[in-house]
Amino acid sequence: MYESLLLILVGVVVIAYGIDFILGQFDDPREPRRIRPKIRVPIIGHILGVLHYGFNYYEVLSQDADAEIFALGILNFKVYITRGSRIRQLVQKCKTLSFTPFLKIPADVISSDAHALFDGVLLESFSHRTKEALTPGPHLDVQNLRMGQQILLHVTEMLREDHVDLFEWAKHSIVQATAAGLYGAHHPFRDRKVENALWTWEEYRPSHMLGTDFLRTGYKARDTVFEAFREYFQRIPDDASFLVQQRQKVMREGGIAEEDTYKIQATLSNAAYPNTVPTLFWTIFEIYSRPQLLDDIRQELHDNAVSRASEKGTNEFVLDVAALQTACPVLLSTYQETQRTRHAQVAWRMVTEDTLLDGHVLKKGNYLQIPVRPTHESREVWGPRAAAFDPYRFVPGKNKPKIAPSSFMPWGSPPHLCPARQFASAEILIAAALLVLRVQLTPVGGRRGGGGWEQPALRSGTPALPRPRRDIRAKVTPREGARGNWSVVIGRAKARISLASG
Ligand code: HEM
Repeated sequence: MYESLLLILVGVVVIAYGIDFILGQFDDPREPRRIRPKIRVPIIGHILGVLHYGFNYYEVLSQDADAEIFALGILNFKVYITRGSRIRQLVQKCKTLSFTPFLKIPADVISSDAHALFDGVLLESFSHRTKEALTPGPHLDVQNLRMGQQILLHVTEMLREDHVDLFEWAKHSIVQATAAGLYGAHHPFRDRKVENALWTWEEYRPSHMLGTDFLRTGYKARDTVFEAFREYFQRIPDDASFLVQQRQKVMREGGIAEEDTYKIQATLSNAAYPNTVPTLFWTIFEIYSRPQLLDDIRQELHDNAVSRASEKGTNEFVLDVAALQTACPVLLSTYQETQRTRHAQVAWRMVTEDTLLDGHVLKKGNYLQIPVRPTHESREVWGPRAAAFDPYRFVPGKNKPKIAPSSFMPWGSPPHLCPARQFASAEILIAAALLVLRVQLTPVGGRRGGGGWEQPALRSGTPALPRPRRDIRAKVTPREGARGNWSVVIGRAKARISLASG
């Protein structure tokens, strides 16, 4: 019995290695060279590598590669990976290396009719309207105000508690504030059950791509979110953002059935929350763990973005969002340095035609990946102190190296950047500013030094930004001198944050 099992096992392994070897023989010699998986298992070795190392896998592999571009093969399918900034710049000019196919909604999410329709001109137009609606202007100002007022509520609520679990707080506050901005006061995530379902769906998304959610936990969670969106979209409230209304309009005009439109609207959740939450968490961590920086940012905010009046013995504070966006360079720099040092994602492109790139042939149907880390850590780009966290790095000044916008990649690789970068940045700046101004946070159980803020161990997995394995629990103390009523105003209209990515 055991001998037969052993024989079968040996047979499977030999066949697997055989298939790998034979497929390798059909590679075009001009294609980037295949690299062996880190976990030496034939066929599925790279899949195991991605699951084990997350986005760091590409970095781990690139340490073994001596070429600027190499290929990771799973049977006949290949992902080309480039780590060189020279090739990255060539990619920008290639129309046949496209991001647009990734905007398509997977066939198992919507009907086959909608899947066929939501392509080509309609998809381009959907993406274009998304970008327009999120560009600084009156519509985004209204969306920002709703979002900012919601964050204010969460900071005020935090002050009623003795302690806070910081990551959990960021998760809940960002979902509620983003959703208030996008969908108005009666948004689909007001119900905690729907908010929790969002995160379960998010956790299972890699399994959905690999088809391994056998217990259907992630699919059930997704259905809960879809159901909430169905209810919401049956009667879109007047305070829904211009963005949401425009996206609905384009889909209706394009002939997408109502039943499919709300599912497509719901997939915005996969872009909107998972990156904003850890970015806010780490920004808070980086600021509070540096007492001098915390003081500098408080001073900068008081000097440039906060006004204070006293009425009948009560302090009235106003945070001016436009001033926060444009006149607080140290906070903006710290936030961007957090992104530079923490982001681990990759930008994806699909090869839509056989393409010649720097003497290599990339075959149609395969993917190209541009990992962010090699660029964000490059001494050539960021100078000799590239490895250090320098909160003042992005503060404009003389004698600072000029950074090309394309070298700062948390929002993707040009020409395709996250259309919501102004909105998401405003959200993180508002949340960080209100916390810094109003709350003293002291980690519970931390050692001395750095105010007790210790770098937490990180969760493994594949997100673009790492998450802490255990949350940071902090004691909440209201700041003296910041007690009173707070409000958030937009201030000057159409303000634009000067992001390093453009
Ligand atoms: C810190 C937070 C965020 C980060 C770091 C981020 C980053 C990204 C990245 C890297 C891409 C892909 C671009 C590429 O690979 O070329 C992307 C796409 C996208 N993001 Fe964001 N994003 C964030 C927040 C948001 C939010 C809050 C929303 C919605 C309100 C949003 C909406 C989108 C959309 C719709 C796309 C698809 C691109 C398109 O339609 O053209 N993102 N984002």
